[in-house]
Amino acid sequence: MDLNGAAAIISGGASGLGEATARELAAAGATVVVADLNAERGKAVADELGGVFVQTDVSDEASVQAAVDAAVATGRPLRAVINSAGIGWAARTVGRDGSPHDLASYRKVIDINLIGTFNLMRIGAAAMAKTEPADADNARGVVINTASVAGIEGQTGQVAYSASKGGIIGMTLPAARDLAAIGVRVLTICPGIIDTPIYGSGAESEAFKAKLAAPVPFPKRMGRAGEFGHLVRALIENDYMNGEVIRFDGGIRFQPK
Ligand SMILES: NC(=O)c1ccc[n+]([C@@H]2O[C@H](COP(=O)([O-])OP(=O)(O)OC[C@H]3O[C@@H](n4cnc5c(N)ncnc54)[C@H](O)[C@@H]3O)[C@@H](O)[C@H]2O)c1
Repeated sequence: MDLNGAAAIISGGASGLGEATARELAAAGATVVVADLNAERGKAVADELGGVFVQTDVSDEASVQAAVDAAVATGRPLRAVINSAGIGWAARTVGRDGSPHDLASYRKVIDINLIGTFNLMRIGAAAMAKTEPADADNARGVVINTASVAGIEGQTGQVAYSASKGGIIGMTLPAARDLAAIGVRVLTICPGIIDTPIYGSGAESEAFKAKLAAPVPFPKRMGRAGEFGHLVRALIENDYMNGEVIRFDGGIRFQPK
């Protein structure tokens, strides 16, 4: 799929992996719609890239519909939907103090990470269905979701987060099968440990990040957000990639803790 002259919507585009993706897709000639809760940062990124910012809560139907409407209103065909909004969470199924995992926080993580991803995928793909095919394959667009290797080998204390990411992995193939009828491909990336603001800043978080990255076989460092953006672009541009879950992790396999 050629990104030049197309519209692309990126949830979580105000920070980290989403921001890097917005930069990469804009460099490829796409008009980017940054859909994020964070208005200050999201607007700054969109303005810098000549794109559009729409304050969006991915878990809310009307909010996502408004973001997709804004992508359609750019006048460019919507060809790429990137789901990168997400939140982390750490709590055990039964805590050290014996109390069960709080149900409201479990629901919140599922609501934002899993249902939010499905919400943008379904509304974005419905808009793609209304575009003219881009090529002789009748291709109309690509959806790229962001899960996590924690959705495959979740660690202690990641039960809510891993369930949300495992759900994204699980819906990749059926969604690709559903959307084949309208010429839309679906792919999911599982990042390992990538250096983004999700880990915070300052000396303490630098020490934490160094500890996380220590077991990465090669390259012996955290991944870079720009490397993620590059992968997203490669997957969009390679028309034969579909229905697949791709690890992006330097070869790391998470241990129980
Ligand atoms: N950084 C990593 O190591 C890593 C590893 C695996 C998976 N991931 C996943 O990658 C995605 C991006 O993470 P990141 O590291 O760039 O984090 P980040 O915190 O830098 O960016 C996440 C963005 O999502 C936005 N967001 C949060 N809730 C939202 C909502 N309800 N609606 C719209 N926007 C919302 C935030 O405002 C923020 O701009 C997340 O889904 C995360 O779980 C990250």
